[in-house]
Amino acid sequence: MTDKLVFLTGAGVSAESGLKTFRDMGGLWNEYAIEDVASPEAWRKNPATVLSFYNERRCAVLDAKPNAAHLAIAGLEQRFDVVVITQNIDDLHERAGSTSVIHVHGEILKARSTIDAGLFYRLQKSTIELGDLCEQGSQLRPDVVWFGENVRFMSECEEHLRSASRVVVVGTSLTVYPAAGLVQKAPFDAEKYLVSPEPQKVPYGFRFLRGPASTVVPRIATCWLEGRKPV
Ligand code: NAD
Ligand code: APR
Repeated sequence: MTDKLVFLTGAGVSAESGLKTFRDMGGLWNEYAIEDVASPEAWRKNPATVLSFYNERRCAVLDAKPNAAHLAIAGLEQRFDVVVITQNIDDLHERAGSTSVIHVHGEILKARSTIDAGLFYRLQKSTIELGDLCEQGSQLRPDVVWFGENVRFMSECEEHLRSASRVVVVGTSLTVYPAAGLVQKAPFDAEKYLVSPEPQKVPYGFRFLRGPASTVVPRIATCWLEGRKPV
């Protein structure tokens, strides 16, 4: 069996790149109500507010750079088969060099048709405005998953977790399902870690490594590249 590493990442892995998390103090969901900006109802009632929320997010992503955690994960590809499953809509894992990244909540740098989820575009500018239309004439929206919509690639993600020999969960509060439930699919005998600077509920079988992603993830990567277990 190949030595397969799966990283399950959330907003915390990009926090030190300057992108806000959702549920920490000062997080986005303290400032905004989910139902006003990240739901199909919000889009129906006030598309301008939704577009403006995501335009701000997109500008922040374009200004951000991968941090030491993103780079360390990408660096592990020199030795291991690495899959990154991320709840993040930014592209920092890709910019760090990771080649196998699955975005279960979509991607902020893409836009899609309002009526045809299969018709999407890589954005050539930093904003989507009211009146920006797809080829079929419908308003463009960000290609992100809103609350109440289906998350993506779940069975593919479950397969990756089932065949993983090592799993690291980084920077997610594990509160949003079904993405959070993926941790349960990891094999009983896999080596499993959860990285976060604050104490949080640790799934059964995982070891908690406390500290910021940019410190702890490079430490894990160095240990694995040297053939040791992380401490
Ligand atoms: P839900 O049942 O409305 O939807 C959950 C589904 O939407 C999951 O598949 C989830 O993964 C997905 N999803 C859609 N957009 C998402 C996004 N931007 N980020 C992450 N996941 C996204 O969600 P719920 O969490 O069970 O919430 C029930 C209700 O409570 C919803 O109306 C929600 O808006 C509201 N609410 C949720 C939270 C929360 O943190 N989950 C917080 C406050 C309010
Ligand atoms: N390093 C590692 N972890 C960090 C750091 C850091 N520097 N800073 C914060 N964290 C941790 C927090 O302690 C918390 O456990 O990252 C986690 C962030 O949790 P959330 O803000 O809830 O983000 P996430 O789990 O990604 O949210 C899931 O909710 O609304 C949605 O679309 C959104 O995909 C997102 C989903």
